[in-house]
Amino acid sequence: MIRTACPLRSACLFRRISPNAPFRGSAARNRCRCDGTAATDAATTRIFPPDMLYDDQATTYDMRAGIPQPATEAVAEALVEITGAGPGTSILEVGAGTGLFSIPLIQRSVRYTAFDRSAAMIGVLREKVAREGLPAAIVVSDGNAAWPADDASISVVFSVRALHHLEPDHVLNELHRVLRPNGSWLAVGRVRRPADSPSSVMRRRMRWLVQQAGYEARNHEARMETVFAALEAEGGQRLEPRTVARWTRMHRPADSLASWEGKEGLAGLELPQEAKGAILADLRAWAGAEFGRIDAPAEQEEFFELTAINVTFS
Ligand SMILES: C[S@@+](CC[C@H](N)C(=O)[O-])C[C@H]1O[C@@H](n2cnc3c(N)ncnc32)[C@H](O)[C@@H]1O
Repeated sequence: MIRTACPLRSACLFRRISPNAPFRGSAARNRCRCDGTAATDAATTRIFPPDMLYDDQATTYDMRAGIPQPATEAVAEALVEITGAGPGTSILEVGAGTGLFSIPLIQRSVRYTAFDRSAAMIGVLREKVAREGLPAAIVVSDGNAAWPADDASISVVFSVRALHHLEPDHVLNELHRVLRPNGSWLAVGRVRRPADSPSSVMRRRMRWLVQQAGYEARNHEARMETVFAALEAEGGQRLEPRTVARWTRMHRPADSLASWEGKEGLAGLELPQEAKGAILADLRAWAGAEFGRIDAPAEQEEFFELTAINVTFS
């Protein structure tokens, strides 16, 4: 369906371009990036830019969201084992952030390129790589534009907790462009926690409160599934998700609150400050009743899940 303007018009909160700019579906670059579903319910459903900046988190990211070093080694080892990557294999990491996996990958002699839209996150990554004196191409680049790789030059595209920030159609276009046509890989990693762990409980409640406030929290799983399903439809062989590392972390419900308070937005949305404050105040009150003490630490398990698909493009 071809639209002549953003369906939200003046209600549109995508501020990158004029809300009345042409809207022609996923192929057009210079368009409002609403998916149009908000048109039916513009009063209550608000859509926000999917690629929020992480610049404000760069210096605290590893402390807040880091993964223990032995686990990052295990992830790199599993990636190499699954994809058969060896010395010289070209790996492109999308949304690499502060480079938790960069050193373990480069040390396995792969030809490593990393990019991220946040100059501050990339700054942290560059420092790590420079300290080790290792070779890598590290680029500040928006994953919703052309990826920093030549056509048919990459054997493995790897991404952790980042690909869902990008438009699935664009991801598919870039995968077709940069991956070598025969037997290449997309491997996507995520950190999971048991459903009853304090941070999962807090996250579920936070997302519920976001929804109650009239916002549509972004569904990361659905975005990733769109990409994997499309690749499968053209013959890609998806492997069962594999848990490749486990660790434990002490966590307090108050840590979840502090981390959401300390960064922009909530649930992947750029909420107005007032709305975010109200949601977190409700959450704090609820957590007090639910957990008794929100500053009581509890050990929780975390594990890293890797999903990979082997693709051959005709
Ligand atoms: C949750 S962090 C994950 C970072 C890293 N992969 C990790 O697991 O630690 C998400 C990353 O995606 C990056 N990102 C978000 N939107 C992006 C875009 N449009 N293009 C490239 N990177 C983007 C952010 O800057 C951030 O570094």
